[in-house]
Amino acid sequence: MFAFDRADFGPGFTFGVATAAYQIEGGQRDGRGSSIWDTFSATAGNVHDGDTGAIACNHYELWPQDLDLIRDGGFGAYRFSFAWPRLIPEGTGAVNPAGLDYYDRLIDGMLVRGIKPYATLYHWDLPSTLQDRGGWMNRDIAGWFADYAALIARKFGDRLAATATINEPWCVAFLSHYLGVHAPGYRDIRAAARAMHHVLFAHGTAIDALRAHGAKNLGIVLNLEKSEAFSDSEADRGAANFGDALFNRWYLGGVLKGQYPAEVLQFLGEHMPSGHEKDMEVVSRPLDWLGINYYTRGLYRATGKPSQPVEQVKGDLEKTESGWEIYPQGLTDLLVRVSGEYTKIPLYVTENGMAEVEGENDPRRVSYYEDHLKAVLAAQAAGADVRGYFAWSLLDNYEWAEGYRKRFGLVHVNYATQERTPKASYRAFQGLLHNGR
Ligand code: FCB
Repeated sequence: MFAFDRADFGPGFTFGVATAAYQIEGGQRDGRGSSIWDTFSATAGNVHDGDTGAIACNHYELWPQDLDLIRDGGFGAYRFSFAWPRLIPEGTGAVNPAGLDYYDRLIDGMLVRGIKPYATLYHWDLPSTLQDRGGWMNRDIAGWFADYAALIARKFGDRLAATATINEPWCVAFLSHYLGVHAPGYRDIRAAARAMHHVLFAHGTAIDALRAHGAKNLGIVLNLEKSEAFSDSEADRGAANFGDALFNRWYLGGVLKGQYPAEVLQFLGEHMPSGHEKDMEVVSRPLDWLGINYYTRGLYRATGKPSQPVEQVKGDLEKTESGWEIYPQGLTDLLVRVSGEYTKIPLYVTENGMAEVEGENDPRRVSYYEDHLKAVLAAQAAGADVRGYFAWSLLDNYEWAEGYRKRFGLVHVNYATQERTPKASYRAFQGLLHNGR
């Protein structure tokens, strides 16, 4: 049991769970097109054990029981993502009727159960045909993405409680085009610079398209970290400041102020697409809410090497099964900072959770949630307008380059039988959320 009551979070506070299409749906049939994660995972060496999302949790068929789990847990909202290649298999042009039917069923299934649909348009499964045309490196993606956003607004907009354009643009751009860890797996500064700008430009064009088609309550989901210095030396503090600019301020500053941090612009230099300044008004279109995904801190050290002046190091805090340090204070600090320095629009914690060893008894995860929910309460007490919290994730699922070996679920999934079994952490939420209803 958690040591607080849901009423402590204020009336109307939303508790939900989050997932993403590629990580759970499977169902690669009925006209669904190929995505960059299908091909990236089919390439040896990219994903642990060569795992792919071909079957995943088979949410494509098992969604009714998954929605029952969400309702029975007491959660009032489900943050899910649309798979672009399921709706528009070639990325642009013809729409797949079976894809529309699937999301119709899923959304109506939420509504009949009293679960609010919180949609994400892009959680990393870019149609492969668009990657063939340069994907996020190609400025045209702003138009492709806006057309896809318009389709969603037209077909589903009146049934969605909230819509986010992009999930974690840092991952879409830097992790996938500079560090090469996620699809499409580039390690190239020019590719990264282009993706870093185009992902936010496309966010802005999608906001315009959604609004033009009547969709309401629009936002974006940023992954933020608490950037800290490895030591108190001036060099390490400078390194942490650069890490903060690259990870946090590029996206916060771009989206909320129409401004990129000068030190990152300098780092990217000639590789930035020319004329990007003219796009900043679109990049910073007014939003109705901001989603923040929080997992851990980033700890930085200066290297003294001109080619790579900054590096991340592991700290000595307790770690999750992903090796991420457990640092709830960082969540309070970030929420307070964003609300003080960037925006007064409502904030949502759109993802938070931890990987843990397999099993249904997960006391460390219960403590993780307890401590991070307390961190939300502390941020509220310090004045941050936090309106909701989504646990990552409902189910154990496909953890990208880590394959199925990292388990983040409140509910255990046996991948051989697709059997779902609630964990102690699910019961802890159930206790909190049924309390006072
Ligand atoms: C986030 C992703 C999500 C999941 C969690 C663990 O970066 O948005 O899909 O993989 O990490």
